[in-house]
Amino acid sequence: MSMSAPVPAPVYEFLGLRAVFTSPVMLATFERVRRFARSDATVLIEGESGVGKEVVARALHHHSARANRAWVDVSCAALPDNLVESELFGYERGAFSGADTRKPGLFDMADGGTLFLDEIGELEVRLQVKLLRVLDYGEFFRLGGTRKMKVDVRILAATNQDLEQAVEQGRFRKDLYHRLAQLRVLVPPLRDRPEDVLALAELFRGKHGLDKTFAPAVREALLQHSWPGNVRELRNAVMAAAATSAGERIELCDLPASVTAGSSGMLPGLRRLAQSVEAAGSGGDDEPAEGGLLENAERSLIFQVLRQTNGHQEKAARILGISSRTLSRKLRAYRPGLDEAGPPPESFPL
Ligand SMILES: Nc1ncnc2c1ncn2[C@@H]1O[C@H](COP(=O)(O)OP(=O)(O)O)[C@@H](O)[C@H]1O
Ligand SMILES: [Mg+2]
Repeated sequence: MSMSAPVPAPVYEFLGLRAVFTSPVMLATFERVRRFARSDATVLIEGESGVGKEVVARALHHHSARANRAWVDVSCAALPDNLVESELFGYERGAFSGADTRKPGLFDMADGGTLFLDEIGELEVRLQVKLLRVLDYGEFFRLGGTRKMKVDVRILAATNQDLEQAVEQGRFRKDLYHRLAQLRVLVPPLRDRPEDVLALAELFRGKHGLDKTFAPAVREALLQHSWPGNVRELRNAVMAAAATSAGERIELCDLPASVTAGSSGMLPGLRRLAQSVEAAGSGGDDEPAEGGLLENAERSLIFQVLRQTNGHQEKAARILGISSRTLSRKLRAYRPGLDEAGPPPESFPL
């Protein structure tokens, strides 16, 4: 470990999943989770996709009195509605054609334990009614069944939608919403808790990159990026970088281009341009640079991105948000006779 490596954050483990909470807001969230875990109340976990809602759900189970009982999770978005129903409630033999044996549902399987309903906002209204009934009375019927099933299940639910808005729009039942949200945990997006970025990156690197280290520029790029895909995007980026990296150290070029594209460290040319824009705007001579400011800016950006993608034009076009046809037309205009494959990356002018 190098001198500059950060002190590793404590690593928690919930049902085989390793997690770190470093930022003040996540430490506070984790405290709340441990308190909420002791009760049997339903918890609604809210947050953007990839922030760690499932991690929170697992932590709630892990710290509860049900920790040694079943943990069952299901995504309400992954299955068609009729399958969600038979998954949740199970069916009796002959309930529908093809049901030649009885099948217990997830509620049966979670008896005594915890059932985590992911993407609860996707649950169709008809099933919302059935779910409310289980929540209120602990009872349900299997599909095609006449026997009332009794279960003791703690429900946790997660959503990346604004459920209150869904209620207003009539897509989600108000009574179920209140029943699910007895307690609430909001998991903030990663961009609002930069303190977590490096700790998470270290965790994922340790898992996938063996003992490779991060180049300082990599750390900076990770801190610069806004992570629209949150922790999931960070995990994937670190995994990809660890797999791509050839040496002992993970370098900037090993990171996915989508991560480095916005990093100021990668765009010295643009920074220089920004300075000349400022200089031009602050009076003095209005003599335009050769080709004009806008054209120069565009050219700089294009070459920066190309350098980052190692001359890969299709990738560069995607990052720039233009078609590869447009990109090669622009390149030909800048440098007539430019080879289609592009020049070696280091030879791009700025
Ligand atoms: N605090 C954390 N520590 C470690 N890994 C995390 C943390 N938060 C999220 N992850 C990881 O990020 C990925 C996405 O998390 P997940 O809980 O599935 O997000 P969500 O359910 O909000 O979409 C998973 O691989 C998860 O293990
Ligand atoms: Mg999830």
